Amino acid sequence: MEKTEPVILAVAGKGGVGKTSVAATLVRLLCRTHPDKKILAIDADPAVGLSTALGIEVCMTVDDIRKAVVAQAREGDAKAAVELLGEARCRIFDAVAEAPGFAFLAIGRPESAGCYCKVNGYLKEVISLLADSFDYVVIDGEAGVEQINRRVMEKVTHLLLITDASKKGTQVIRTVKEVADELVMYDQVGTIVNRLPSKDVIPLLDTGDIPVLSYIENDPALTEFDIRGENVFYLPEDANIVRGVREAVEKLGI
Ligand SMILES: Nc1ncnc2c1ncn2[C@@H]1O[C@H](COP(=O)(O)OP(=O)(O)OP(=O)(O)O)[C@@H](O)[C@H]1O
Ligand SMILES: [Mg+2]
Repeated sequence: MEKTEPVILAVAGKGGVGKTSVAATLVRLLCRTHPDKKILAIDADPAVGLSTALGIEVCMTVDDIRKAVVAQAREGDAKAAVELLGEARCRIFDAVAEAPGFAFLAIGRPESAGCYCKVNGYLKEVISLLADSFDYVVIDGEAGVEQINRRVMEKVTHLLLITDASKKGTQVIRTVKEVADELVMYDQVGTIVNRLPSKDVIPLLDTGDIPVLSYIENDPALTEFDIRGENVFYLPEDANIVRGVREAVEKLGI
């Protein structure tokens, strides 16, 4: 049977609004609804977090591979650039960790800002290289608009913009959407409004032309899990965040 195009879901939005929590919950949901499919979770945020939310120990990152390949090139190993590139491509699979039900890849944390640009460029290649080996790819992005601007997520099927109830949060997702309209190829876009203090504030929110997929109220279960450092696989089915992410996924027809 011919393999269909992968479903690529990218999560973006302002800092601290719940991108990682939503991305991790998405992975959990996909593992349960599609146990026979290949699922890849990518932590594209150098500040890391998705691994903890998913209960994964990270041994090697995309940046580690980049460094190793660069070091080898510096050693004067007279290999042609093309060969090195080929090697980097093979090695990237070493950075993919296998967890029960899904695979995991982290971009890692380069030491300096300049390095980060490079690893972002590298990540873009990595996403397009790996995506075809999977049925579902969930990308937890860095806060803000930078990765969208740099086209790290150039081609995704679903762009999930996460916001809280703040004006700043909704402004950031509107900006991300504007930039994405210019630079990203996506099929569907929508927002999840997370960490609502109460449903009463819904009429005050302005998400512009971005359709709301679900509203998630402050989740006491998640707060408690966070304190204990537990992963999302242990959250109860009726936790606000699990319900909200499920509703969003159903609306998107995934
Ligand atoms: N619905 C919710 N109810 C209660 N707490 C939540 C909810 N969503 C997220 N949180 C908590 O808010 C904090 C930030 O969440 P998270 O790390 O998922 O955000 P983020 O957008 O990925 O942040 P960053 O921009 O730093 O990567 C965490 O402590 C998380 O447990
Ligand atoms: Mg995060």
